[in-house]
Amino acid sequence: MKTLSIRTILAAVLVVVAGTALSASPVSKERMKQIDKKIDVLLRKMTIEEKVGQMTQVTIDLVSVGPDGRHEPHAIDPAKLEEAVLKYHVGSILNVGPAGYPVEHWREVVTQIQDCAKKSRLGIPVLYGIDAIHGATYTGGSTLFPQPIGIAATWNTELAKGVGDVTALEIRASGIPWNFSPNLDLGRQPLWPRMWESYGEDVNLAIAISEAYIDGMMGEDMSAPAKVAPCVKHYAGYGYPFNGKDRTPAWIDERMMRQYFLPPFEAAVRAGVPTVMANSSEVNGIPGHANYHLLTEVLKNEWGFQGFVDSDWRDIENLHTRDHVAATPKEAVRMAVMAGVDMSMVPLDYSFYDLLLQLVKENAVPVSRIDDAVRRILRVKYLVGIFDAPYPDASLASKFATPENTEFNRTVARESITLLKNNASLLPLKKNARVLVTGPTANLLSSLNGGWTITWQGNEEDRYPKNKPTILKAIQEAIGDGLVVYRPGTTFDAALDVKSAVAAAETADVVIACLGEKAYCETPGNINDLTLDDAQLTLVEELAKAHKPIVLVLAEGRPRLIHRVVGKADAILLAYLPGMEGGHAIADILFGDAVPSGKLPFSYPKYPNAITMYDHKPIEAADVNAYDPEFPFGDGLSYTTFAYSDLSLSSKTLPRDGSITATVHVKNTGSRPGKEVVQLYGRQLYRTISPPTRELKAFQKVAIQPGETVTVSFTLTPKDFDFVGLKDTRVIEPGACELFVGPLSEGFELK
Ligand code: BGC
Repeated sequence: MKTLSIRTILAAVLVVVAGTALSASPVSKERMKQIDKKIDVLLRKMTIEEKVGQMTQVTIDLVSVGPDGRHEPHAIDPAKLEEAVLKYHVGSILNVGPAGYPVEHWREVVTQIQDCAKKSRLGIPVLYGIDAIHGATYTGGSTLFPQPIGIAATWNTELAKGVGDVTALEIRASGIPWNFSPNLDLGRQPLWPRMWESYGEDVNLAIAISEAYIDGMMGEDMSAPAKVAPCVKHYAGYGYPFNGKDRTPAWIDERMMRQYFLPPFEAAVRAGVPTVMANSSEVNGIPGHANYHLLTEVLKNEWGFQGFVDSDWRDIENLHTRDHVAATPKEAVRMAVMAGVDMSMVPLDYSFYDLLLQLVKENAVPVSRIDDAVRRILRVKYLVGIFDAPYPDASLASKFATPENTEFNRTVARESITLLKNNASLLPLKKNARVLVTGPTANLLSSLNGGWTITWQGNEEDRYPKNKPTILKAIQEAIGDGLVVYRPGTTFDAALDVKSAVAAAETADVVIACLGEKAYCETPGNINDLTLDDAQLTLVEELAKAHKPIVLVLAEGRPRLIHRVVGKADAILLAYLPGMEGGHAIADILFGDAVPSGKLPFSYPKYPNAITMYDHKPIEAADVNAYDPEFPFGDGLSYTTFAYSDLSLSSKTLPRDGSITATVHVKNTGSRPGKEVVQLYGRQLYRTISPPTRELKAFQKVAIQPGETVTVSFTLTPKDFDFVGLKDTRVIEPGACELFVGPLSEGFELK
């Protein structure tokens, strides 16, 4: 018999409040003052060449052996390194090329670079940067977590913090103190090939998850041995291209920019994030790297950002070659630096250095602007501790990719996976079931990881570790080879052995069809159609003819449309890009060793031309316009069930200087322990700017035992109902509001 117990959980709304300071602590004024004093001394000693050099960032390829620096095995070319560091005084080097080398190799590389920097006149250390967006990308054997979209799907801020923590440690163990992560672009354009680098469509979910991740990476003091400096990107509006293709124009007016796209950046800056990367594309016809308003007026002046703005890859030269807003490469450099870009990811030559030097000598760029940029860059070098400790800490290697990190990775992957359909409780499967495993993602680690894995595109399957299981191998491990038949059925976009897969389905108890996307990153991931490839949908239709229960497992970075086969599937598991432990985590869920608790961080569309976000306007909710996704934002099933009751508000009014507490009971009415994400939505009924029909205000993930009831409380203030008003500033208007939790709702009056 189930016992009934009641636990109370106070989910202070600090969990998700747009625009408030994050829990990571910004650097104290006193520390900043001391650092600035040291910088004053340095700046007085620096030549203009040394200053312009600090603003120059090149790729490691430029200082490595081989004509394109890509010779394998990788090695630094000492002559090229001296040219970069001693002749051009480069301030930073970044990694994109060498892949999968051991920690020791990276320590050696960073040591060589810092040795060279020591030989320079002023001995200023070089800042080494990397795109470790789901773990230490380019270091062999690192802990590679679910991609950010999966971290958002956990709705678990503690896990997100842990991911930041482990990532920081493993890149510092590789000698690297700076991470081009997190990506704070909102995922409100599902075609966009970088959707999976985002935390989904909701502003407050993105803030809550990135807040925790940044806190884990940066800690109280980013100069601590296992902490790093994050770089938030791509500021701002990059993720909302009108046509869905990467690096194509967005049209976002000031109100929309401030309502949706700026708040995650503002929150990160207020938490002390020291670097920001500019938008690689354009908004309203203004390239991100020429946007004085966003880079200087908003970021630096309005928010008081003290760190530096890095350009994205070749994006200063792109102002001339691609965007045609600068008539010459030199004008492009002037434009970007005067707009507020402090460092140029040039990254393949020294053109930026040469041109900027000329511009300063011609007084086309004032020295004061150069001094400002260099001060910002040196500040970050002090903050991250490389003036005092430029060399990698060898002792961290023993904490790199430990079994504990791997186990934690598996936990994160399990909590991200989202169960979207489960007719007649088909899942979990019995461990004595005979299964057919089929589909193009069944036996590929690259489809579980996606881009920024070992290589930029993440698609070189041969480079993946041999000791990590694909979905197929993890299923074989879980139930034994004898019960598993594997027929790929199709490649991603062409039939292979469909007939043989259907024949195998006839003798199986259940079909596990693993569909999705091959690994891609950035522009190469552009698509013309959000619909999943016809070959994969046809495979499911053919398999259905065997009349055996079908489980779809989707390994994909964006919601590829599957409407044609949703009715043919009995169960659907969305794995996103679950990382190196993804195979294990999927098998854990399929066979009941873990209970799913992931929730969708985006609306999963049903039709190609019905792409509507969950926080749509009333006009999008009426009649034929109705929000009708395949699966709504926040959705996700469990192997147990939860019942919501007794939603109550502490008051019927919310005074301007007061607060209101919403309390609800959530009971586990099933027979298995499970985790539920209690989601609090709100709306204002009438206001000057048409209100969204609902917006996520707060959430709390809670573990509940069978029969147990928990009481969850959220406290809101009027600030939670502010919005960007007619004058493009945040305002609060009085009026009737509603709160929703599960199927329940209650109203109150905002005074
Ligand atoms: C991407 C950035 C990345 C940079 C360095 C660019 O192509 O847009 O997100 O940080 O490359 O690798």
